Amino acid sequence: MKENYKSKPHESAVGHVSGKAIYTDDQRLPSGMLYLWPVLSPYAKAKILNIDTANLNNIPGFVTLLTADDIPGINNTGSIKHDEVLLPQTEINYWGQPVVWVVAETERAAQTVAETLKIEYEPLTPILTIQDGIKNQSFHGDKNIMRRGNPIKALQESDFILTGNIEIQGQDHFYLETQVAWVIPNLEDGYQVYSSTQHPSETQAIISEVLGIPRNQIVVTCLRMGGGFGGKETQANPTAAIAALAAYKTGCPARVRLKRDQDMITTGKRHPFLAQYQVGFNSEGQLLALDIDLYSDGGWSVDLSFPILQRAMFHIDNCYYIPNLEVRGQVVKTNKVSNTAFRGFGGPQGMVIIEEIIDQIARKLSLPPETIRERNFYRGEGETNTTHYGQEIFDNRILRVWEEVKIKSNFDNRKQEIFEFNQNHDYQKRGLAITPVKFGISFTKTEYNQAGALILIYQDGSIQLNHGGTEMGQGLQTKMLQVASQALGVNIKRFRIMPTSTDKVPNTSATAASSGSDLNGQAVKNACETLKQRLAEVAAKLLNFNDAKELIFEEDWVYCKSYPRYKIAFEEVVKQAYNQRVSLSATGYYRTPNIYYDPKIGKGRPFYYYSYGAAVSEVEIDGFTGTFKLRQVDIVQDVGESLNPLIDIGQIEGGFVQGMGWLTMEELVWDEQGRLKTFAPSTYKIPTIKEIPKSFNVHLLKRAAQDGVIYGSKAVGEPPFMLAISVREAIRDAIAAWGNSDSISLASPATPEAILNAIEQVQLKSENAL
Ligand code: MTE
Ligand code: HPA
Ligand code: MOS
Repeated sequence: MKENYKSKPHESAVGHVSGKAIYTDDQRLPSGMLYLWPVLSPYAKAKILNIDTANLNNIPGFVTLLTADDIPGINNTGSIKHDEVLLPQTEINYWGQPVVWVVAETERAAQTVAETLKIEYEPLTPILTIQDGIKNQSFHGDKNIMRRGNPIKALQESDFILTGNIEIQGQDHFYLETQVAWVIPNLEDGYQVYSSTQHPSETQAIISEVLGIPRNQIVVTCLRMGGGFGGKETQANPTAAIAALAAYKTGCPARVRLKRDQDMITTGKRHPFLAQYQVGFNSEGQLLALDIDLYSDGGWSVDLSFPILQRAMFHIDNCYYIPNLEVRGQVVKTNKVSNTAFRGFGGPQGMVIIEEIIDQIARKLSLPPETIRERNFYRGEGETNTTHYGQEIFDNRILRVWEEVKIKSNFDNRKQEIFEFNQNHDYQKRGLAITPVKFGISFTKTEYNQAGALILIYQDGSIQLNHGGTEMGQGLQTKMLQVASQALGVNIKRFRIMPTSTDKVPNTSATAASSGSDLNGQAVKNACETLKQRLAEVAAKLLNFNDAKELIFEEDWVYCKSYPRYKIAFEEVVKQAYNQRVSLSATGYYRTPNIYYDPKIGKGRPFYYYSYGAAVSEVEIDGFTGTFKLRQVDIVQDVGESLNPLIDIGQIEGGFVQGMGWLTMEELVWDEQGRLKTFAPSTYKIPTIKEIPKSFNVHLLKRAAQDGVIYGSKAVGEPPFMLAISVREAIRDAIAAWGNSDSISLASPATPEAILNAIEQVQLKSENAL
């Protein structure tokens, strides 16, 4: 990207801070809007015996109820597997499952009816944990296996073997804008849907199935989201589908907006994972074999659990060459919300697990964890630079980001300083850790890696820009404007970016897998090139040049390089093109080349490329309270040749802080009946400005342009999330300073309670060792 197109402010920056940016629910609502309110199940597993609808008609404003019997099409909102009912017929599968939706003239009336409604249930015994599910053989789908070499044999031949379990908990998305959709029946047989969805085409498809009408009768539009983080990749669908069902049944516009507690109670979260492993290594800390089972808590329905588990399995190596590795994965079926996509999509779980294993090896051998990490990096060529699923890491930049962040953070000196600090302080201990990230970019489902665009130039030279991606705060629209502006050589102000809509660009993929700019950027550029070619023909004639290909489009002018004085204004070319009956609109299309994966043999090249980063975190723990302060964070992230450094740095900071929240403070608590206890900000703590490190230094890797990606850039949305593993490992490092234990077990999230427990264990083990 040329300098003059870079570092544009976020296209909605002013709108965000002034409140003028329009979200789905801020639009001027049509008159006659009906409002919905759900009745939530009080049991995690139950049978519905009776729904008593008597006396409801006396409540002013009541319109109707929506039950499973009202669904004209398929009672399903599951995208991969049709196992997710929109409304239950008889079976309740999780606490808080919407059983019935009330439709009324006001939200208040709908709520009153919902509170009056009496439903009888027969409670049953739920399965609530991964361990419970394994015991009862309650699974979604079969075991998935990836293997390289012979780990069983290699374990037998290893000098050291460690066996262990690791449990990682979930995370609520806590997007600022909760799930919302509203629907207007229009144009005789159609439905206009406004939905806060990362995946308008799938929302359209699900509504079409629920209503039993073809997709061309449904238009789904997403203006922008107040955060998605994966939580609106599939889980926007039930909200939109229920609003559509209300509109279908009543013929009136209908709106659903979940309250924060309803959102937290009913929607899926990051998958909790349980890992059971055996790792073999030598006295140098070189990894020889890993044999590992991963279990994820899928919740009641499949949703995206299979590809999420698969991504965890793809990232169980993180940056390390493990010659003999078998990873088995299985999704456990529980009576909980259906867990879903969340920034990193299983990658973070896979990486936390291997980083903890590395730390265990280091403490066992009394070697620094960073030494074990360095000794096991993928490097060289061929086998030692090839993952367990057979993808060669052709663009390995692990050592580059690692060395750079070590220098930038002054790692070695600080390590010494911290050692001295800890010797002189009994109740405060500091810890320092450095961890790397290698994250595969592409949807692992190959067919998702395609995108489209539609550009309309009007006679006055103003332009509308459409593409298939959705904006959730990540800056995609800004980047698409920059791409179009550079590709057409015109000022960014000429463009109006249009809301994402299924009637502009059809059959789109979710904006997810961090590939929004990669995919849509190429499609936008492709559309621009088509238009430019047509306009160049027109301009060449006007300028009396033979070769239209020689023409340059730059800063709203068209000219030939060798005669820059003869130039013609872009607007003039547009006008002439219209007069000469040359089309001024074009579609663009892109599909990622050279990716494939065969799940049957667990081999292929699922990722177009990898994104790399490394982080150094320093913490100080207070031994009385178990709280910690994040003193300093240094990051080097490889974003290729950044399309927009301001936005990319924001993504890195935001991703890191969100990851830190997951690993250190966000704690989801369910009671023994499967009721979520933490469904509000009062009990579910996300990071605030107070948790942001005092010294937070983010560096983009320099001279990092990536071939074959839009203007040499690389994806940035998810990879930095996993840099927060350095905080967890720094906490472990500080805890270690309380004793001389050869293993530190730290529960996740590392809440003050978990930290105090870990310190106590270290002290106990050290006393026993004396
Ligand atoms: N940044 C903001 N501000 N809000 C979000 O919801 N979602 C993240 C990431 N960054 C998110 C975000 C997730 S989960 C993904 S996959 C990417 O943005 C999606 O956008 P992209 O592909 O355009 O980077
Ligand atoms: N990432 C995010 N979302 C997805 C993916 C993925 O790899 N595959 C399917 N949906
Ligand atoms: Mo992001 S979890 O791929 O929406």
